[in-house]
Amino acid sequence: MPDSISNIPTHVAIIMDGNGRWAKARGLPRIMGHKKGAEALRSALDACMKAGSRYLTIYAFSSENWKRPIVEISDLMELLRTFLDKEIAALHRGGIQLKVIGDLSKLAPDIRAQIEGAEALTKDNKKFNLIVALSYGARQEIIQAMRKVAELSASGRIAPDTIDESFISSLLYTHAIPDPDLLIRTAGEQRLSNFLLWQSAYTELYFTSVLWPDFTPKHLQEAIAEYSNRERRYGTRSE
Ligand code: FPP
Repeated sequence: MPDSISNIPTHVAIIMDGNGRWAKARGLPRIMGHKKGAEALRSALDACMKAGSRYLTIYAFSSENWKRPIVEISDLMELLRTFLDKEIAALHRGGIQLKVIGDLSKLAPDIRAQIEGAEALTKDNKKFNLIVALSYGARQEIIQAMRKVAELSASGRIAPDTIDESFISSLLYTHAIPDPDLLIRTAGEQRLSNFLLWQSAYTELYFTSVLWPDFTPKHLQEAIAEYSNRERRYGTRSE
Protein backbone atom coordinates (compact mmCIF):
# COMPACT_ATOMS: atom_id res chain seq x y z
CA MET A 1 0.00 0.00 0.00
CA PRO A 2 1.56 3.37 -0.98
CA ASP A 3 2.38 5.66 1.96
CA SER A 4 0.19 8.40 0.48
CA ILE A 5 -3.04 6.53 1.33
CA SER A 6 -4.16 7.72 4.72
CA ASN A 7 -7.89 7.05 4.89
CA ILE A 8 -8.08 3.26 5.20
CA PRO A 9 -11.50 1.58 5.57
CA THR A 10 -11.78 -0.06 8.99
CA HIS A 11 -14.32 -2.57 7.67
CA VAL A 12 -14.26 -3.97 4.13
CA ALA A 13 -17.15 -6.14 2.89
CA ILE A 14 -16.92 -8.17 -0.31
CA ILE A 15 -19.49 -9.84 -2.57
CA MET A 16 -17.22 -12.40 -4.24
CA ASP A 17 -18.99 -12.80 -7.58
CA GLY A 18 -17.91 -14.45 -10.83
CA ASN A 19 -16.53 -17.83 -9.79
CA GLY A 20 -18.89 -19.64 -12.16
CA ARG A 21 -18.03 -17.38 -15.12
CA TRP A 22 -14.32 -17.78 -14.41
CA ALA A 23 -14.66 -21.57 -14.57
CA LYS A 24 -16.95 -21.52 -17.62
CA ALA A 25 -14.49 -19.36 -19.58
CA ARG A 26 -11.89 -22.10 -19.06
CA GLY A 27 -14.21 -25.04 -19.72
CA LEU A 28 -13.84 -26.11 -16.08
CA PRO A 29 -16.52 -27.30 -13.62
CA ARG A 30 -17.96 -24.51 -11.44
CA ILE A 31 -16.31 -25.92 -8.32
CA MET A 32 -12.90 -25.06 -9.80
CA GLY A 33 -13.99 -21.43 -9.87
CA HIS A 34 -15.05 -21.63 -6.22
CA LYS A 35 -11.71 -23.28 -5.32
CA LYS A 36 -9.77 -20.54 -7.05
CA GLY A 37 -12.13 -18.09 -5.30
CA ALA A 38 -11.16 -19.53 -1.92
CA GLU A 39 -7.49 -18.84 -2.81
CA ALA A 40 -8.37 -15.28 -3.82
CA LEU A 41 -10.07 -14.90 -0.45
CA ARG A 42 -6.89 -15.91 1.38
CA SER A 43 -4.89 -13.25 -0.50
CA ALA A 44 -7.60 -10.61 0.01
CA LEU A 45 -7.60 -11.31 3.74
CA ASP A 46 -3.82 -10.88 3.93
CA ALA A 47 -4.03 -7.72 1.82
CA CYS A 48 -6.76 -6.22 4.06
CA MET A 49 -4.62 -6.84 7.11
CA LYS A 50 -1.54 -5.34 5.45
CA ALA A 51 -3.51 -2.27 4.39
CA GLY A 52 -4.51 -1.63 8.01
CA SER A 53 -8.20 -2.59 7.94
CA ARG A 54 -9.59 -4.40 10.99
CA TYR A 55 -12.66 -6.22 9.64
CA LEU A 56 -13.40 -8.20 6.49
CA THR A 57 -16.91 -9.54 5.86
CA ILE A 58 -17.36 -11.92 2.93
CA TYR A 59 -20.58 -13.15 1.34
CA ALA A 60 -19.72 -16.85 1.11
CA PHE A 61 -23.22 -18.31 0.69
CA SER A 62 -26.49 -16.41 0.51
CA SER A 63 -29.92 -17.60 1.66
CA GLU A 64 -30.81 -17.63 -2.07
CA ASN A 65 -27.83 -19.90 -2.87
CA TRP A 66 -29.80 -22.83 -1.33
CA LYS A 67 -31.75 -22.79 -4.63
CA ARG A 68 -28.63 -23.81 -6.63
CA PRO A 69 -28.24 -27.40 -7.89
CA ILE A 70 -27.62 -29.83 -5.03
CA VAL A 71 -24.23 -30.83 -6.47
CA GLU A 72 -22.97 -27.24 -6.37
CA ILE A 73 -24.30 -26.75 -2.82
CA SER A 74 -22.53 -29.88 -1.59
CA ASP A 75 -19.31 -28.85 -3.39
CA LEU A 76 -19.45 -25.44 -1.70
CA MET A 77 -20.13 -27.04 1.70
CA GLU A 78 -17.16 -29.37 1.18
CA LEU A 79 -14.98 -26.37 0.33
CA LEU A 80 -16.16 -24.73 3.53
CA ARG A 81 -15.32 -27.85 5.57
CA THR A 82 -11.82 -27.86 4.06
CA PHE A 83 -11.43 -24.13 4.69
CA LEU A 84 -12.43 -24.48 8.33
CA ASP A 85 -10.27 -27.57 8.75
CA LYS A 86 -7.12 -26.35 6.99
CA GLU A 87 -7.12 -22.59 7.55
CA ILE A 88 -8.31 -22.18 11.10
CA ALA A 89 -4.94 -22.87 12.75
CA ALA A 90 -3.27 -20.31 10.47
CA LEU A 91 -6.03 -17.76 11.14
CA HIS A 92 -5.60 -18.33 14.88
CA ARG A 93 -1.81 -17.94 14.65
CA GLY A 94 -2.35 -14.72 12.74
CA GLY A 95 -4.47 -13.26 15.55
CA ILE A 96 -7.67 -13.39 13.50
CA GLN A 97 -11.05 -13.78 15.11
CA LEU A 98 -13.61 -15.69 13.03
CA LYS A 99 -17.33 -15.09 13.21
CA VAL A 100 -19.97 -16.70 11.03
CA ILE A 101 -23.27 -14.87 10.49
CA GLY A 102 -26.46 -16.17 8.93
CA ASP A 103 -29.20 -18.74 9.45
CA LEU A 104 -26.92 -21.55 10.57
CA SER A 105 -29.87 -23.83 11.43
CA LYS A 106 -29.91 -24.85 7.75
CA LEU A 107 -26.30 -26.13 7.78
CA ALA A 108 -25.25 -29.74 8.36
CA PRO A 109 -24.55 -30.49 12.06
CA ASP A 110 -20.86 -31.29 11.41
CA ILE A 111 -20.30 -27.89 9.77
CA ARG A 112 -22.13 -26.16 12.62
CA ALA A 113 -19.85 -27.94 15.08
CA GLN A 114 -16.76 -26.92 13.06
CA ILE A 115 -17.95 -23.31 13.07
CA GLU A 116 -18.60 -23.36 16.82
CA GLY A 117 -15.12 -24.83 17.41
CA ALA A 118 -13.45 -22.26 15.15
CA GLU A 119 -15.31 -19.35 16.77
CA ALA A 120 -14.46 -20.59 20.27
CA LEU A 121 -10.78 -21.09 19.37
CA THR A 122 -10.38 -17.58 17.94
CA LYS A 123 -12.76 -15.60 20.15
CA ASP A 124 -10.05 -13.70 22.06
CA ASN A 125 -8.00 -12.74 18.98
CA LYS A 126 -7.80 -9.00 18.55
CA LYS A 127 -5.62 -8.36 15.51
CA PHE A 128 -8.24 -8.79 12.80
CA ASN A 129 -11.84 -9.94 12.36
CA LEU A 130 -13.00 -12.21 9.55
CA ILE A 131 -16.78 -12.41 9.30
CA VAL A 132 -18.18 -15.07 6.99
CA ALA A 133 -21.78 -14.56 5.88
CA LEU A 134 -23.17 -18.03 5.35
CA SER A 135 -26.75 -18.97 4.62
CA TYR A 136 -27.13 -15.22 5.06
CA GLY A 137 -29.87 -12.91 3.85
CA ALA A 138 -30.27 -9.35 5.11
CA ARG A 139 -34.07 -9.32 4.97
CA GLN A 140 -34.16 -12.54 6.96
CA GLU A 141 -31.72 -10.97 9.47
CA ILE A 142 -34.03 -7.96 9.82
CA ILE A 143 -37.09 -10.23 10.18
CA GLN A 144 -35.49 -12.14 13.07
CA ALA A 145 -34.63 -8.81 14.73
CA MET A 146 -38.24 -7.60 14.30
CA ARG A 147 -39.51 -10.83 15.85
CA LYS A 148 -37.34 -10.14 18.92
CA VAL A 149 -38.71 -6.60 19.08
CA ALA A 150 -42.26 -7.99 18.94
CA GLU A 151 -41.53 -10.51 21.72
CA LEU A 152 -39.92 -7.88 23.97
CA SER A 153 -42.78 -5.53 23.30
CA ALA A 154 -45.51 -8.13 23.87
CA SER A 155 -43.99 -9.02 27.24
CA GLY A 156 -43.80 -5.34 28.22
CA ARG A 157 -40.00 -5.28 28.35
CA ILE A 158 -39.57 -2.42 25.86
CA ALA A 159 -41.52 0.73 25.11
CA PRO A 160 -41.86 2.01 21.51
CA ASP A 161 -39.72 5.09 22.17
CA THR A 162 -36.75 2.96 23.30
CA ILE A 163 -36.48 1.55 19.75
CA ASP A 164 -33.74 3.46 17.97
CA GLU A 165 -30.96 2.70 15.44
CA SER A 166 -28.53 1.35 17.99
CA PHE A 167 -31.21 -0.89 19.50
CA ILE A 168 -32.04 -2.41 16.09
CA SER A 169 -28.30 -2.78 15.33
CA SER A 170 -27.86 -4.66 18.60
CA LEU A 171 -30.40 -7.28 17.46
CA LEU A 172 -28.67 -8.02 14.14
CA TYR A 173 -26.13 -10.81 13.56
CA THR A 174 -23.51 -8.06 13.26
CA HIS A 175 -24.00 -6.52 16.72
CA ALA A 176 -20.61 -5.36 18.07
CA ILE A 177 -19.21 -5.13 14.52
CA PRO A 178 -18.89 -1.62 13.04
CA ASP A 179 -20.79 -0.97 9.80
CA PRO A 180 -18.77 -1.59 6.62
CA ASP A 181 -16.92 1.45 5.26
CA LEU A 182 -16.26 -0.03 1.83
CA LEU A 183 -18.26 -2.70 0.01
CA ILE A 184 -16.68 -4.30 -3.05
CA ARG A 185 -18.58 -6.39 -5.59
CA THR A 186 -16.71 -8.16 -8.35
CA ALA A 187 -17.76 -9.51 -11.77
CA GLY A 188 -19.61 -6.45 -13.04
CA GLU A 189 -22.92 -6.75 -11.17
CA GLN A 190 -24.00 -3.56 -9.44
CA ARG A 191 -26.43 -4.56 -6.71
CA LEU A 192 -26.37 -5.60 -3.05
CA SER A 193 -28.24 -8.92 -3.49
CA ASN A 194 -29.61 -8.93 0.07
CA PHE A 195 -26.18 -8.40 1.70
CA LEU A 196 -25.86 -6.19 4.83
CA LEU A 197 -28.80 -3.96 3.84
CA TRP A 198 -29.17 -2.22 7.22
CA GLN A 199 -25.42 -2.02 7.86
CA SER A 200 -24.48 -0.54 4.48
CA ALA A 201 -26.73 2.53 4.70
CA TYR A 202 -23.67 4.83 4.44
CA THR A 203 -21.14 2.40 2.98
CA GLU A 204 -19.08 3.40 -0.06
CA LEU A 205 -19.82 0.97 -2.91
CA TYR A 206 -17.10 -0.14 -5.33
CA PHE A 207 -17.85 -2.24 -8.39
CA THR A 208 -15.28 -3.90 -10.61
CA SER A 209 -15.62 -6.14 -13.66
CA VAL A 210 -12.78 -8.39 -12.41
CA LEU A 211 -14.06 -11.91 -11.70
CA TRP A 212 -13.52 -12.93 -8.08
CA PRO A 213 -10.93 -15.69 -8.78
CA ASP A 214 -8.84 -13.08 -10.65
CA PHE A 215 -9.09 -10.54 -7.81
CA THR A 216 -5.60 -9.88 -6.45
CA PRO A 217 -4.15 -7.69 -3.67
CA LYS A 218 -3.48 -5.08 -6.37
CA HIS A 219 -7.23 -4.88 -7.09
CA LEU A 220 -7.94 -4.51 -3.38
CA GLN A 221 -5.39 -1.71 -3.15
CA GLU A 222 -7.09 0.05 -6.08
CA ALA A 223 -10.46 -0.19 -4.32
CA ILE A 224 -8.99 1.17 -1.08
CA ALA A 225 -7.22 3.96 -2.98
CA GLU A 226 -10.52 5.00 -4.57
CA TYR A 227 -12.27 4.82 -1.19
CA SER A 228 -9.63 7.02 0.39
CA ASN A 229 -10.26 9.69 -2.26
CA ARG A 230 -14.01 9.79 -1.68
CA GLU A 231 -15.59 12.24 0.71
CA ARG A 232 -18.08 10.63 3.07
CA ARG A 233 -20.76 13.04 4.19
CA TYR A 234 -23.39 10.82 5.85
CA GLY A 235 -26.16 12.97 4.41
CA THR A 236 -24.63 16.28 5.48
CA ARG A 237 -23.82 19.16 3.09
CA SER A 238 -20.40 19.65 1.53
CA GLU A 239 -18.36 22.65 2.78
C1 FPP B 1 -20.39 -16.28 -6.52
O1 FPP B 1 -19.95 -16.77 -7.76
C2 FPP B 1 -19.73 -16.97 -5.44
C3 FPP B 1 -20.32 -17.83 -4.56
C4 FPP B 1 -21.77 -18.13 -4.60
C5 FPP B 1 -19.58 -18.51 -3.53
C6 FPP B 1 -18.40 -17.77 -2.95
C7 FPP B 1 -17.54 -18.75 -2.30
C8 FPP B 1 -16.19 -18.78 -2.35
C9 FPP B 1 -15.34 -17.73 -2.98
C10 FPP B 1 -15.52 -19.93 -1.74
C11 FPP B 1 -14.67 -19.54 -0.58
C12 FPP B 1 -15.37 -19.30 0.66
C13 FPP B 1 -15.17 -20.04 1.77
C14 FPP B 1 -15.58 -19.48 3.08
C15 FPP B 1 -14.56 -21.38 1.73
P1 FPP B 1 -21.02 -17.37 -8.78
O2 FPP B 1 -20.99 -18.85 -8.64
O3 FPP B 1 -22.36 -16.74 -8.54
O4 FPP B 1 -20.41 -16.92 -10.12
P2 FPP B 1 -21.19 -16.59 -11.47
O5 FPP B 1 -22.09 -15.43 -11.16
O6 FPP B 1 -20.10 -16.24 -12.41
O7 FPP B 1 -21.94 -17.82 -11.86
